[in-house]
Amino acid sequence: MRLNRSWLFVPGDSERKLAKGQDNPADALILDLEDAVSDDRQEIAREMTRDFLKAHPDRSRQELWVRINPLDTPLSLPDLVAVMPGAPNGIVLPKVYSAADVNTLATMLSALETREGLELGSTRILCVATETAQSLLTFHTYLDNVSERLTALTWGGEDLAAALGASTNRHPDTGDYDTPFQLAKTLCLTTARAIDAQPVGVVYVDFRDLEGLEAECRRDRRSGFIGKIAIHPAQSEVINRAFTPTEEEVTHAKRVIAAFEDNPGLGTVGLDGKMLDMPHLKQARNLMALVAQFGG
Ligand code: COA
Ligand code: MG
Repeated sequence: MRLNRSWLFVPGDSERKLAKGQDNPADALILDLEDAVSDDRQEIAREMTRDFLKAHPDRSRQELWVRINPLDTPLSLPDLVAVMPGAPNGIVLPKVYSAADVNTLATMLSALETREGLELGSTRILCVATETAQSLLTFHTYLDNVSERLTALTWGGEDLAAALGASTNRHPDTGDYDTPFQLAKTLCLTTARAIDAQPVGVVYVDFRDLEGLEAECRRDRRSGFIGKIAIHPAQSEVINRAFTPTEEEVTHAKRVIAAFEDNPGLGTVGLDGKMLDMPHLKQARNLMALVAQFGG
């Protein structure tokens, strides 16, 4: 499964920003048809997004995804119908209530892929898993027959605040996310790992604060997230760097793997005076999976 470190949102109705996105180091662009687009520009955005997709069929360096409107609005199906001729790598689904929404989208994609002559199942899904109150109570539904198109989950604190009636998502003393939002983060991470999908870190809204972004990337990475959503072109490079394994990490991971390979049949080995067991081997292999894709 291909992983993306940086996922840059680009408003789908801005020729200037689309052009800027294409020159950006982001591993993926998310062409936005939802919140970045005003209602009176929806049709323009759909056409511009489809044209951009068609004009950029080579996705080897940068994938092109599209965020459609939520399924419970009349905009979502026309969004999909408009962009599928451009064969996006994936669809970003906002404001989900449960895994049933993902499966509904998956069915629509099967129909549209067939119409467009695309490989069945080739369009992936990233869902923004925590934007409704219901979503926090339905994470268990992902464990039960969710579409294999779902390859990544991310979370959001802004719409969730509105959904929960919160005037802020931050704790007044620490400035960190308050408890409901930390729960959302934890559930997103846990669920993604449980179904072998990529857990993608939340957008960092203060886009001028690149140091703060870098610190949050490191925190996300320590928790288990891979990659992060970006909203400004300057954020992609910081995110790419933070999620690329360092030389030290790679050396260590290789030594851990070698220690197990040199002792076949052993579940526990010693390295530098420390005990290593299966979780360490799994972590080392996770890291090497990142290296395989991004170098290190
Ligand atoms: N993608 C591509 N290009 C972008 C961009 C983006 N997300 N955000 C800014 N740019 C471009 C600007 O057009 C500008 O280019 P120019 O100098 O050629 O005009 C350059 O990058 C510098 O932008 P800057 O002046 O620093 O920011 P801004 O005030 O123009 O824009 C935002 C700030 C937040 C409006 C803008 O970053 C944006 O639109 N972000 C995406 C919003 C979005 O999609 N939200 C939905 C998901 S939460
Ligand atoms: Mg809108």
